[in-house]
Formats: sequence, C-alpha cells, structure tokens
Amino acid sequence: MTSEHGPEDGLTHFLYRSNARANFTAEDLRTIVAEARNRNSSCGVTGCLHFEDGLFFQWLEGPKIALDMIIALIRNDPRHEDMTDLSYGPLTARRFADWSMRATDRHRASLLDWFASNQVSTIDRIAYAGSVSAFLVAISV
Ligand SMILES: Cc1cc2nc3c(=O)[nH]c(=O)nc-3n(C[C@H](O)[C@H](O)[C@H](O)COP(=O)(O)O)c2cc1C
Repeated sequence: MTSEHGPEDGLTHFLYRSNARANFTAEDLRTIVAEARNRNSSCGVTGCLHFEDGLFFQWLEGPKIALDMIIALIRNDPRHEDMTDLSYGPLTARRFADWSMRATDRHRASLLDWFASNQVSTIDRIAYAGSVSAFLVAISV
C-alpha cells in the first residue's frame, strides 16, 4: 500500500483541525491513537495526529472509500468538537506511508510556535492548510 510501488488509484487526503472536549485526558489521547492505529492499518489508511493546547491537527491519507468512512466516524466522535476542514482531495504520494497514525505533541515540536515564527495567517484557509501540512511533514523526519 505504499507509494514505493507507484501511484495508487484513488489516493485521497484529508486535513482538519478540531478542539478536544473539556476534561480531555492523556489517557483519552492514548485510547484514540490506539483505536486509530487499529482501524487505519486494516483499511490502508496512514497519517498523523498532532495534539497541542487542546487542539487536534490530523492528516489522513488512503483509498477514498476507506478514508471517507473513517472521516465520517471521526466527525461523529464526541471526544472533540468544532471540526474545521482544512484540505481534502487527491494525493499523488503518501506522506506518512510508514505510519498507521503517527502521534505527536508539543514536546516533539510546537505547531503554535511554528505559526508564530512563520507569521501564519488563519484567515487564508489554503495558506493555513499548507503551513499545517508542512509542519506535520517537517517534524516526521
Ligand atoms: C481527534 C480524533 C482522531 C481520530 N482518528 C482516527 C483515525 O485516524 N482512525 C480511526 O479509525 N479512528 C479515529 N478516531 C476514532 C474514531 O472517531 C472512532 O471513535 C473510532 O474509530 C471508533 O472505533 P470503534 O468502532 O472500534 O469503537 C479519532 C478520534 C478523534 C477524536
């Protein structure tokens, strides 16, 4: 299922931001990452989840049908709210081919510091999405 074997038909990506519900704990985060890894690996979906200051930023990539099913599950999950879609569409090559769900937090690298140092505007949705995905890829190497 990796891009090393050439382009994958129907490869699609999704990037969003959401807010963790009040009283969200480190244990909740571990549970989510375990659930995500479980289902994603059985569906050929890969990606990463960054959690910082009560915010989730998640990049998902995989075959469109499986991805859309997982997005629907995530949308209905009461452990977060205010989901803001940042980017969705075709993708030429996976960025997280080796990760059923990479999990990072601010101890690894701070997205909010990255926003500040790159003077990222939250008004231009496309530029904002580009900056978030650049950060997620940059910290994964
Ligand atoms: C921020 C966030 C990210 C999530 N990411 C994934 C994911 O990548 N893949 C997945 O299958 N479930 C993910 N989940 C969990 C799903 O929303 C859902 O609860 C879970 O898949 C249900 O699993 P179950 O049917 O085994 O109970 C995420 C939930 C949250 C709150």
